[in-house]
Amino acid sequence: MTRTIHTQVAIIGAGPAGLLLSHLLHFRGIESIVLEVRSRAAVESTVRAGVLEQATVDLLTICGVGERLLREGHVHHGINLRFAGQTHRIDFERLTNGRAITIYAQHEVLRDLIQAANHAGREIIFEAHDVQVHDIDTSQPRVTFTQDGQPTEVHCDFVAGCDGFHGVCRPSIPAGAIDCHQCQLQIGWLGMLVEAAPSSKELIYARHERGFALVSTRTPHIQRLYLQCEPHDDVAAWTDERIWSELRIRLETREDWQLIQGRIFQKCIVTMRSFVADPMQYGRLYLAGDAAHIVPPTGAKGLNLALADVSVLAPALAEFFETGRSDSLEHYSETCLPRVWRAQRFSAWMTTALHRLPGMEDYKSRLQIAELEYVVHSQAASASLAENYVGFPLPAVAQASLAAGRSKTHVCGTGSTCT
Ligand code: FAD
Ligand code: DHB
Repeated sequence: MTRTIHTQVAIIGAGPAGLLLSHLLHFRGIESIVLEVRSRAAVESTVRAGVLEQATVDLLTICGVGERLLREGHVHHGINLRFAGQTHRIDFERLTNGRAITIYAQHEVLRDLIQAANHAGREIIFEAHDVQVHDIDTSQPRVTFTQDGQPTEVHCDFVAGCDGFHGVCRPSIPAGAIDCHQCQLQIGWLGMLVEAAPSSKELIYARHERGFALVSTRTPHIQRLYLQCEPHDDVAAWTDERIWSELRIRLETREDWQLIQGRIFQKCIVTMRSFVADPMQYGRLYLAGDAAHIVPPTGAKGLNLALADVSVLAPALAEFFETGRSDSLEHYSETCLPRVWRAQRFSAWMTTALHRLPGMEDYKSRLQIAELEYVVHSQAASASLAENYVGFPLPAVAQASLAAGRSKTHVCGTGSTCT
């Protein structure tokens, strides 16, 4: 027999967008249920992003899930661009009036959000299979799924599609109802986790004739490294020996610098694409995060954009439930899309400036170096990179909602927020 659940907002996907949305709604007294296809262990251990913008850190802190992030995250006040055998530091502090980024792994953000949900007794249904959305063009949408073979139907007022780029929500929108702007890049990244001490105090983005390399970090004992590769490369073809050899070549510099090697304990390949759905809503279905837009990871924007979307969606839904007004919901896409396109521009720029692109002949390669020389030697160009990298303040509606929430709340020792 089909089990029935009633809630105000059915959220599909327990990624950063879905989990923060559920948290922010709870903050405003709105009930939601999160449906996630993967297990909790898989969600809490999948390694992805690591760079949080200042506004993201502020958002997570204000809403009561920033305690561990503030304690364990690493604040970086700059990044390094390395090309033509030299390293150039982009000083965020000087160029952006003291703003910074924080290195804190995406799955740690998810663990904090899941802990806050458990603490508040909010339900996250993991291993929810065959999720499907229905009647999104009516005021009573439904979501069906099975859990342990038990068919279940969720009756709700709204559906939030936070199920990433390959999820089921966006494809549920009738063809022609949204425009999809996209560009597939013939570039892959091989991401590695390595047991070693950091090779650098700050991230190194390296441009080399053989392709891009990135030195990032996670903890004093675990490092995150990336190498540009072919999108359809077989991970098995990247032996440890080949990886270290390629990293040493691409990161070569005339300065006194050494790549610290260690045991590689994880490798995976990600392909890149740029995509924007416009509008990010259809009927009672609202898309957020990668379900609505995706950027190549070079600018470190995806996670930050996902959280910014839900910082707009949560108060818009709250306004509807509290006053019956739907103005903010109607303007949801308009509010989010300028930030999305700004991140698209920046990510595309960082990607083209630093990668070896298909069919890149000598002339284009020289232009790339000229571009990077200009960026590091012009105060205006360095400032432009810095301000985009540290990110922009959240949209005014999100800021106003957080400010109102902050004046009514205090943060408990557990990291959850009490009103
Ligand atoms: P997701 O994280 O994709 O979450 C979607 C969730 O929905 C998943 O848990 C998925 O299992 C679930 N789901 C999917 N389909 C269904 C279904 N049918 N039913 C139920 N559940 C479903 N961004 C940054 O800001 N900074 C960085 O430094 C950065 N680095 C990155 C490095 C790499 C290698 C990669 C791959 C990405 C990086 N990103 C970065 C991007 C960032 O990881 C994503 O933009 C972010 O995860 C988007 O969050 P989301 O919640 O929208 O989607
Ligand atoms: C990391 C990921 C990115 O996409 C990036 O641009 C910088 C750092 C990381 O995983 O640490």
